[in-house]
Amino acid sequence: MTNLQFKRHRRLRQNATMRAMVKETYLHKEDFIYPIFVMEGENVKNPVASMPGIYQFSLDRLHEEMDEVVALGIPSVILFGLPAEKDAVGSEAYHDHGIIQKAIRFVKENYPEVMVIADTCLCEYTSHGHCGVVSEDERILNDPSLDLLAQTAISQAKAGADIIAPSNMMDGFVAAIRKGLDEAGFEDTPIMSYAVKYASAYYGPFREAADGAPKFGDRKTYQMDPSNRLEAMREAASDVEEGADFLIVKPALSYLDIIRDVRNNHDMPVVAYNVSGEYAMVKAAALNGWMDEKQTVLETLLSMKRAGADLIMTYHAKDAARWLEEK
Ligand code: PBG
Ligand code: ZN
Repeated sequence: MTNLQFKRHRRLRQNATMRAMVKETYLHKEDFIYPIFVMEGENVKNPVASMPGIYQFSLDRLHEEMDEVVALGIPSVILFGLPAEKDAVGSEAYHDHGIIQKAIRFVKENYPEVMVIADTCLCEYTSHGHCGVVSEDERILNDPSLDLLAQTAISQAKAGADIIAPSNMMDGFVAAIRKGLDEAGFEDTPIMSYAVKYASAYYGPFREAADGAPKFGDRKTYQMDPSNRLEAMREAASDVEEGADFLIVKPALSYLDIIRDVRNNHDMPVVAYNVSGEYAMVKAAALNGWMDEKQTVLETLLSMKRAGADLIMTYHAKDAARWLEEK
């Protein structure tokens, strides 16, 4: 034994106080952004089958969810709207009395301290379910979509949205939305861009929750190929140039390397979107008794912070805020 040379890493793990002294990464409830689905109708609180614990709310019951969010100290929500009517150009997305605009107004009037983020996209509002305008031969048209996205962002800002979060992945959407917001007098409204968004199977449950599945084809001509890492750097860089204030990486768990790359390349707030499929997997395992939900969720969210995220959009936010309070 006497001549053995090795490091004693376990010295710093010997008890809870020692471990706390060398802890490098923390999770706080202030890091969380909670997604909420709002739909037209009355007295609706529809469970989303593939996302246990997540519901679609009508406006008259939205207070149930918001009261909890506020009581738990979660500082911000991202709102998704499910309109009563869809059409080819997603008119309800940029209607001043559309569901998302009404929901934003409701939350800002009743919970002014909550930071309201508006998801800016067309897919929940278009009959074809794509995030932009579609041609007769079923191509997703980039430039004609930009004006509609800018109109959507402006109407959301007018309704009181604190932050605009465009998720559509058309080229130039940040530039178009920034220009639109500025011209409408909203130069102080930040853009939280879904800068790096992959075409992912992990969005499956969300498409049920937000009723936004594409009716034909897929999103691979606008969302990114999961194989690509350098392309993520180009996507992030162009959004920074166009005026983004926050950069979202989505999904999160299978893309922790990308979160780290974006953090290392840009001195901007980075947001990880812990998406619906990531939530569904953990919930399914937990409900079967196969994994410990609390430990798994906290470890998963912590990994996103460790990868470099400043903020996390997560359906676990309410549970995680509760669990963090316990410790
Ligand atoms: C709409 C949008 C999607 C998500 C957020 N905004 C779905 C998609 O692009 O198909 C996914 C969120 C999640 O899965 O939790 N553009
Ligand atoms: Zn979309």
